[in-house]
Amino acid sequence: MRQVRTLGLLGTGVIGGGLAARALHFGIDVIASDVRPAMEAWIRGAVDNAAGALARLTMAPLPKPGRLSFTTDLTAMARQVDFIQENIPEQLELKQRVLAQVSRHAPPDVLIASSTSGLMPTDLQRDMQAPERLLVGHPFNPVYLLPLVELVGGQRTSHAAIDAAGEFYRYIGMHPLRVRREVPGHLTDRLQEALWREILHMVNDGIATTGELDESIIYGPGLRWAAMGTNLIYHLAGGETGMRHMLRQFGPCLKWPWTHLEAPELTESLIDRMVEGTQAQAAGRSIRELERLRDDYLVAIQQVLRQYDIGAGSTLRALETRLYADSAKAASAGLAGERNGPARVLEIEVRPEWVDYNGHMTDSRYQQVFGDAVDALWRSVGIDESYRRTGYSFYTVESHVTHRAEARAMEALYVTVQVLHVDDKRVHVFTSLHRRADDAPVATGEQLYLHVSTQAGRVAPIPPALRAKLDDWFHAHQALPLPREARRHVGMTRA
Ligand SMILES: NC(=O)c1ccc[n+]([C@@H]2O[C@H](COP(=O)([O-])OP(=O)(O)OC[C@H]3O[C@@H](n4cnc5c(N)ncnc54)[C@H](O)[C@@H]3O)[C@@H](O)[C@H]2O)c1
Repeated sequence: MRQVRTLGLLGTGVIGGGLAARALHFGIDVIASDVRPAMEAWIRGAVDNAAGALARLTMAPLPKPGRLSFTTDLTAMARQVDFIQENIPEQLELKQRVLAQVSRHAPPDVLIASSTSGLMPTDLQRDMQAPERLLVGHPFNPVYLLPLVELVGGQRTSHAAIDAAGEFYRYIGMHPLRVRREVPGHLTDRLQEALWREILHMVNDGIATTGELDESIIYGPGLRWAAMGTNLIYHLAGGETGMRHMLRQFGPCLKWPWTHLEAPELTESLIDRMVEGTQAQAAGRSIRELERLRDDYLVAIQQVLRQYDIGAGSTLRALETRLYADSAKAASAGLAGERNGPARVLEIEVRPEWVDYNGHMTDSRYQQVFGDAVDALWRSVGIDESYRRTGYSFYTVESHVTHRAEARAMEALYVTVQVLHVDDKRVHVFTSLHRRADDAPVATGEQLYLHVSTQAGRVAPIPPALRAKLDDWFHAHQALPLPREARRHVGMTRA
């Protein structure tokens, strides 16, 4: 299977738009195709809408964003892309026809994934050419923030196709969940439907309003689900003996049972109750407004879960590890040929949320950007997570920033690093931020790092192999002129 540089979208509605935003953000080009020309403006709007939340998701250095293009010629799209995601309406015959048509134009090593919420991959691949590359890749709305994607193979799907699709989804920050057997509704929608069915019954029977039923989730189980899911949480509910006790205690109720197995008839009065209930909950807020609120808390929750390395937080952590490693790899590639000058280690764009009330990049972001630049230097000499696991790291003990010009939102910048000094225990580094357009200096930073044993909490000598690599940099940079701002301090006279 090929490396995915360009993603093709077949159908550019809610799901196509969300996927486009996610892929573009992580550096993948997207060719979107839809039978309706009006969808071009729609998908561009959807990508813009998602940009704010996506930008806040991670501060890790990102690659250059992908480019988005649009066509109504589905077969032209199929000929130019490395991976196709089908997101057209949920109708089996329509999907079968379009997938078969597209499969005749996409080379056989181009994977084709369907976003179908409930159809079976064996049915979808029936008339396709090279059907072994078809799988279900079922994402969740908003695709740009929710990592889950269910992977389901049909009778003719190859294992290699599922593995390769998983790798691609992981690359764009998703969590591929492999479904062992194709069943209508896969896993998640079956669970969601069971809950929703009971909601419809209870609203229909006048037991509760939609708002009360939502309260029953958001103040309780909903908070637990995000990190542990239903089963692990029930294991905890059983006390010391866990799930075994839980099943003994609540097993009998499962026989009654509390719940209905079939959804109620969708009568006009039930529909009215559902609509009126949710309108009351929205309390005058538009769908857009509610989407923004949802996006903000989805970002915040994932950042909190990242601290605990659990659930979607682990996915975010893994994505960031990959982004930092890629940025360091790109930096090391550039570094190899750049020993005659300060090393250009980081390329960035000023993200809109980095800008303060003056319209310029705010103070703390300079420290962050310089920190990321030094991080790239560290990785190029092997100071990474595995080095830190050996019980050693570098701690910052002093830093100084000077400002030369303003950096505005979306401005493209780069950072260079110059190693000023290395000895037994210390590394002294000078960083410089420049505008990409004209190389004009924007700011400089200077940091002193101490090598420490993290367990002992004490300064420790730099091991010889690492010292040799740091010395390579130091010796290469020793001949460079000392930057004007180096070895300075804040220039006020003492009272
Ligand atoms: N909306 C969700 O929450 C959600 C979640 C997961 C999966 N899905 C699945 O994703 C798929 C798409 O759902 P959606 O909500 O994005 O639908 P949507 O109605 O928002 O978008 C469908 C798009 O497909 C286009 N289209 C129709 N026929 C086409 C054709 N022959 N060729 C190319 N484009 C065509 C339409 O113009 C439209 O832009 C469905 O299979 C759905 O089950 C939806």
